[in-house]
Amino acid sequence: MKLENNVTIITGAAQGIGEAYARRFVAEGARVALADINAAKAESVAEDIRRGGGDAIALEVDVSSEESTAAMAASVAEKWGRIDTLIANAAIYHDIDNQNHSFAYLKKIFDVNYFGTWLTVRAVYPYMKRQGKGSIITQSSDAAFMRFPVPHQDELPSFHYSVTKAAVNALTHFLAATCGPHGVRCNAISPGPTMTEATLKTVPREMIDMLVQGMMCLKRPLEAEDLCGTAVFLASEDSAMITGQVICVNGGLIMLG
Ligand code: NAI
Repeated sequence: MKLENNVTIITGAAQGIGEAYARRFVAEGARVALADINAAKAESVAEDIRRGGGDAIALEVDVSSEESTAAMAASVAEKWGRIDTLIANAAIYHDIDNQNHSFAYLKKIFDVNYFGTWLTVRAVYPYMKRQGKGSIITQSSDAAFMRFPVPHQDELPSFHYSVTKAAVNALTHFLAATCGPHGVRCNAISPGPTMTEATLKTVPREMIDMLVQGMMCLKRPLEAEDLCGTAVFLASEDSAMITGQVICVNGGLIMLG
């Protein structure tokens, strides 16, 4: 086991990739707080993990709220005495409206996907800084690197999802530089198309086929479990000298050189 007693917070862990991270981290010996706005679903995953002998709790958290993220960090530190790893994975993805290019909606996506990441890190960082050690993993997306035109009528599209993930990449670099002197590392995982319920709902099948067959070296989409090894690595001592990296786990989808 690579993460024995590692205290880990995973946001957006009620389903999909976050849930897969939680289950794998527990299997590696970590104690995991599953933080999600969908408290009932997070609790049912945590309960299932506990039934299997793992150490997990569910927390109702809205990552776009200062109070909620602060309470999350405080309660985990109170329960387990420290916070070793944060995976800031929550985002509006499952219910995203790709046709809504209004300014108000762009701000809503930023509220969760970018400000939510920043608020979550801001809440947890003081604990890691005091420990002189910690690993922060942000959840980016290969969408941050895309440059294809977005079809539109008269109005300029907002590019909401991709732009928030590009901002997460930039944040990751600043965090690495700023937190590094205090022993805290920060890296991003940038997944390619991953067959969660959210992808099946929001990404047209033709688009997935185009990405897989046309743009990926390995000719299959990812499953959530394909991302877990990288997350375990980034949380573990095996990556002790790795920080400030955006690691694409995407079957060779983006090869910008
Ligand atoms: P998902 O939509 O199934 O999971 C997102 C989770 O975040 C849900 O459990 C949701 O309840 C939670 N959440 C949403 N708003 C929240 C808030 N304000 N506060 C707390 N929790 C909140 O998505 P999926 O597929 O599991 O993706 C997880 C992450 O990976 C997201 O950051 C997504 O952008 C990213 N990603 C996913 C890819 C894919 O193909 N599935 C590809 C690249 C990145």
